[in-house]
Amino acid sequence: MNKKRIGVLISGRGSNMSSLIEACKHPEFPAQISVVISNRPKAAGLQIAASEGIKTVAINHRDYESRPALETDLHEALVGAGVELICNAGFLRLLTAEFVDKWHDRQLNIHPSLLPSFKGLHTHQRVLDAGVKVTGCTVHLVRTDMDAGPIIAQAAVAVEADDDANSLAARVLAAEHQLYPHALKLFVLGKAYVENEMIEMAPEPGQALVCNPRAIFSPALEKT
Ligand code: GRF
Repeated sequence: MNKKRIGVLISGRGSNMSSLIEACKHPEFPAQISVVISNRPKAAGLQIAASEGIKTVAINHRDYESRPALETDLHEALVGAGVELICNAGFLRLLTAEFVDKWHDRQLNIHPSLLPSFKGLHTHQRVLDAGVKVTGCTVHLVRTDMDAGPIIAQAAVAVEADDDANSLAARVLAAEHQLYPHALKLFVLGKAYVENEMIEMAPEPGQALVCNPRAIFSPALEKT
């Protein structure tokens, strides 16, 4: 199988990166990770990736005077590793329009809310403060505006009465770990594709929503 070459961008623990690494181990999965890049040299995720035999690169934002200078090295590291598609996974640097345009429709991000609600940081506390009863996570294409861009897939997670930001974050994170590989696969296979700044889904016979008490995934995670 001709696997799509992925570059994963992280800043921290890299649990979403780990879920992508696990997915890529399956022979049938249509992608492979060519490089993991962190803007923080001490990010735990870098060590995890290295222990899996994946090439890692640290591009420390503190070493750069400007965003474009950092992005020049970032772009070169990605291209040098043969990357065709970027997956942001807890990457905490804002990217310039120039960089985003270079990777137009070739850069995915995961965000821990049901976009377009609750963009930005401290998502779970803001969800609780707003009193919403359902939250979740979103995988979308990256555009210049933060946490915006065509939505590939979402998973909904119920907010429980006794949730605090940590307990809610943990349940949403578990959903993220399922959603990201799923969305990546759909996109790489062309089953989810961009048209007029929206994601269209190629119809698939037998596709159905899979519901469980904790999360609802859209589109279907499995076939029935
Ligand atoms: C995740 O919640 C992701 O949605 C957000 O940042 C967090 C990263 O966590 N963008 P991890 O590093 O993948 O564990």
